[in-house]
Amino acid sequence: MTSATGSPGSAPSYPHSSPTGAFADLRIDIDRLIQRLADLAAIGAIEGTEGCARLALTDEDKAGRDLVVAAMEELGLNITTDGIGNVVGVMAGETDGPPVMCGSHIDTVRTGGRYDGNLGVLAGLEVIEVVKAAGLTPHRPLAVAFFTDEEGARFAPDMLGSLVYVGGMPLEEALEIEGIDGAIVGAELERIGYDGSSPLPAAAPYAFVELHVEQGPVLEAEGITIGAVDGVQGISWQEVTVTGQSNHAGTTPMNLRKDPGFVAAACANFVRQLALELGAPQVGTVGRLELHPNLVNVVPASATFTVDIRNTDEAILKQAEQRFAEFLATTAEAEGCTVETKELARFEPVIFDDRVIDMVRSTAEELGHSVKQMPSGAGHDAQMLARVCPTAMVFTPSRDGISHNPAEYTSPSDLEAGANVMLQVMMKLAAADCQIGAE
Ligand code: GLV
Ligand code: MN
Ligand code: MN
Repeated sequence: MTSATGSPGSAPSYPHSSPTGAFADLRIDIDRLIQRLADLAAIGAIEGTEGCARLALTDEDKAGRDLVVAAMEELGLNITTDGIGNVVGVMAGETDGPPVMCGSHIDTVRTGGRYDGNLGVLAGLEVIEVVKAAGLTPHRPLAVAFFTDEEGARFAPDMLGSLVYVGGMPLEEALEIEGIDGAIVGAELERIGYDGSSPLPAAAPYAFVELHVEQGPVLEAEGITIGAVDGVQGISWQEVTVTGQSNHAGTTPMNLRKDPGFVAAACANFVRQLALELGAPQVGTVGRLELHPNLVNVVPASATFTVDIRNTDEAILKQAEQRFAEFLATTAEAEGCTVETKELARFEPVIFDDRVIDMVRSTAEELGHSVKQMPSGAGHDAQMLARVCPTAMVFTPSRDGISHNPAEYTSPSDLEAGANVMLQVMMKLAAADCQIGAE
């Protein structure tokens, strides 16, 4: 607990040149936030649903970016774009040191909801708007960012923009990444006009807070409003290509087949059984599967599929990777097939900063909300920012635990609660007497 939050149980103090307590009284405007979410969701809207498709660096992503940048301009923010297309808007503070930053992403999966990522960015705009409208100047600058290609659904790895932002991958390497449609990151950034020149790796913020929907069932099931996120589980993504002998489906005896489709199916089954055997929080998914030539009466020539496995425990995650590799090798060999694997993403589990986690928890309590400390099952830009500055996240409940689906939904009252927690956490971090970050 830092001095900025006061001692447990006491009212928080905000020693500023501004009127005492003025920052503590600020609240977001939920109607405006919901309108912002709707306006952004109208871009790439999936007909007949509430969801949207804005895969990274597509025309739809560009249109979404343009909308958010226009809102940043309206707020009079100092806007910068870097070489991987991350956009940061900064509101000046009393000092010109590193900002207290919030943010997330506005790219979506192809069948995305309107909250995933978008909420953290648009709530960041909302935070800055209410501070400005109140005529207040925080001690430290405030920043809101949207990071490129958090989803990784078009260009792997996920969290690509924030990874480059913190120096986890050289820009040159990121610009050469090829997407699932053959497009190249650098060429697409140039095409949509978001190949900026702000330096990379970027200077570390003072602290980082990301508001996000939980995307899982825990908060709803337990009737809790706010998740104080204490970390993100490790993520391992790979693409597997199995090559066999394409042949006639009617004439080729079963014992003479070299069938990559069978190997892929066996692997999908194994990934599921392995996750069940290792137990929660181990999860495993084969999310993309392509057979070639993909015809009813042809034993496939090749199968390409992805494996996504995650765990909060690095040792168990490594064990799962090893077990899968052994199964793949023996199954392919027994079928007379060859195998190639390509790592798409590999991130170790991340633990957030205790002081920021505490701040999220105590702020939620001060605002009268139930709160639970919990890890995140999904990947987030915050896990990259945690490499360079004190970081934590705020979760709000997801109806039925549904996400990466147009049906994703969080109620207005939960959105409001989450955004107000983020607002107040940012105000505490931006206060002169907060000492948790590096100036
Ligand atoms: C990103 O959304 C991920 O966790 O896959
Ligand atoms: Mn997200
Ligand atoms: Mn997502």
